[in-house]
Amino acid sequence: DEAAEQAAFGAIIEADSRIEPRDWMPAAYRKTLIRQISQHAHSEIIGMQPEGNWISRAPSLKRKAILMAKVQDEAGHGLYLYSAAQTLGITRDEMTEQLIEGRARYSSIFNYPTPTWADMGAIGWLVDGAAICNQVPLCRASYGPYGRAMVRVCKEESFHQRQGFEILLTLMQGSPAQREMAQDAVNRWYWPSLMMFGPPDDESPNSAQSMAWKIKRFSNDDLRQRFIGMLVPQAEVLGVTLPDPELRWDDEAQRWHTSEIDWTEFHEVLAGRGPMNVERIRNRRNAHDDGAWVREAAAEYARKQNEKAVA
Ligand code: 3HC
Repeated sequence: DEAAEQAAFGAIIEADSRIEPRDWMPAAYRKTLIRQISQHAHSEIIGMQPEGNWISRAPSLKRKAILMAKVQDEAGHGLYLYSAAQTLGITRDEMTEQLIEGRARYSSIFNYPTPTWADMGAIGWLVDGAAICNQVPLCRASYGPYGRAMVRVCKEESFHQRQGFEILLTLMQGSPAQREMAQDAVNRWYWPSLMMFGPPDDESPNSAQSMAWKIKRFSNDDLRQRFIGMLVPQAEVLGVTLPDPELRWDDEAQRWHTSEIDWTEFHEVLAGRGPMNVERIRNRRNAHDDGAWVREAAAEYARKQNEKAVA
């Protein structure tokens, strides 16, 4: 009966074990996982666009090959995560429709433009760096398919972060113009990368429940702080300046003191009014429409194969 199932579910969460697709789970647990995992998958897929813009413009064959590998990885992360979401009862078509009809969230960070090559470095170092901070704890998410997908994603993410760091380091060891281009990219991507961790804890409606269910292991602000702590020494090695004049370690409070984050910008981007929201969804919708013939051909081929098999 339901009480016994609820008790069994609670005991698994309490024991820090895993909930698997066939286990009973509260409807609200299923709903929040579908919400978070599908949004995570959408983020990976939309995240291919800002970088894809530079594959044909990379400054060398080596950089082109690395960037292509990274964008292909993002596609793979999206597919793992869509598959993980499907184990909860939502279909791939439903998720795709939600995204191309503008009814699904995806990470705010991918709604910013990538005007120079240095953006590839800033995205790898800052965006993938933030993603690692956020995704490592998700490897221990209480829902099995999600946690396991994260293990593979995190391994590839560290390559993404390292290649971004290396692009910036190369530019910072270059001409004054290259150094200026790298600093300009860091200035544009620093604050949006802090927003990737979500709103402040006291304005985060999902955190309490998500932490009780051991989906979210650390709060938005805790992970944001951890990320800043990672960036400060790396920025020194790079020789770039993090664009926050108030940034300093507050020893008494044992935390990084920062300027106020512009949460108005965050909410504008989430409302679809960021610099690139319209283009990102239009590109995704066009790719879906352009790919219709491939889906039809694959379905027809599968139908014929089935016919042969049963004949
Ligand atoms: N962009 C878009 N929406 C965001 C957001 C962001 N940066 N931060 C928060 N939100 C949304 C939440 O989805 C929620 O809205 P909803 O209830 O309609 O879904 C609302 O703002 C309030 O935020 P909460 O803190 O209450 O929500 P969560 O508990 O879900 O925490 C989160 C937000 C930390 C982003 C969490 O959902 C999470 O960890 N998601 C999985 C990881 C993820 O999506 N990472 C970003 C993708 S970047 C990436 O992976 C690509 C990399 O490979 C380059």
